[in-house]
Amino acid sequence: MSWSDPEHLLQRAQQVSPDLAERLVAWQHQDGRHHLPWQKLRDPYRVWLSEIMLQQTQVTTVLGYFERFLQRFPDVQALAAAPLVDVLTLWAGLGYYSRARNLHRCAQDVVNLHGGRFPSSCEALQTLPGIGPSTAAAIASFCFDERVSIMDGNVRRVLSRVLGWGEDLSVRAHERSLIAAAQVVLPLRADVMPSYTQGLMDLGATLCTPRKPSCLMCPWSDLCVARQVGDPERYPVKSRKLKRSERENWWLWPEWREQVWLQQMPDKGVWAGLWTLPLLDSDEAVSALLGTTLDARVERQPRMKHVLTHLDWWLHPRRVVLDDAEAAALEAALRAQAPGGRWVPLADLANWGLPAPLRRLLVG
Ligand code: ADE
Repeated sequence: MSWSDPEHLLQRAQQVSPDLAERLVAWQHQDGRHHLPWQKLRDPYRVWLSEIMLQQTQVTTVLGYFERFLQRFPDVQALAAAPLVDVLTLWAGLGYYSRARNLHRCAQDVVNLHGGRFPSSCEALQTLPGIGPSTAAAIASFCFDERVSIMDGNVRRVLSRVLGWGEDLSVRAHERSLIAAAQVVLPLRADVMPSYTQGLMDLGATLCTPRKPSCLMCPWSDLCVARQVGDPERYPVKSRKLKRSERENWWLWPEWREQVWLQQMPDKGVWAGLWTLPLLDSDEAVSALLGTTLDARVERQPRMKHVLTHLDWWLHPRRVVLDDAEAAALEAALRAQAPGGRWVPLADLANWGLPAPLRRLLVG
């Protein structure tokens, strides 16, 4: 039977507690992941950095970025003191650059408002930029043994299955019921919180997967309501799914004397603060900006596909090599459209914060 009443959900959570947590901790010790570089250190700086990186990026990708970040910024003071452009440059390729800007702001707040030490409670951690409830819970449970539950996509799946919570989690009240149940099933002993939290993540990543979960190997299999009703994939229920969309832009790529024209993106959006070639909405807009003589010389390169979580972004590079007079005229036209652009030497591009596809295009 599955439970649609929040009271039943809490009762079910009480019934299986503390068994659920004890089994998960034992399973994590035996079969969970133990070799991730941010584990075991109880260092809030490393845990925080890894959690922010892992928010929309896979573990295998994060590993390299994590090491490079630590080499360049070994502690929160070093990160706070760095120019933002250095942070964005190292972040390039991870996407969602608002994460990098918040990372930098958060480091500065830790240094300026908290004496260089991360606050130690889940509640206080959430006052910092870029730290939401689940990231705060991860830091507080991993580093300070606080009894709070993380609640990311994996945990929603794992807990809604084991507890048989089949209500629509797009509805805030139903999500809140699951959060309340998550608190009930926490381990009684605070000192196992790091293993428990890691166990929730590991179970969701390795056994309790969205499709074809490996129920036979699961430490909770005989307790799991979703398994008993025979359809674990039905959980969690989420009616509002984000639809994928497409976007298309033309990248004007003007070169003059071994330099390229770049503009800084505004503070909001996927490439916030990064430098890019001018982005136009159509090939006609490129032609209009260049005029007929230059347009005849444009190298129309094959389109590139940049895949974001909810968006396929098609980019059409349009390269044109200019003489002095043409460069001056185009510069004036570009400045009239968007202030803040500049010529950047091709040899310097590696030091600029470029979005990953532009780096591939210009630097290789
Ligand atoms: N995803 C988010 N946090 C993680 C962690 N600590 N270990 C593995 N995957 C994660």
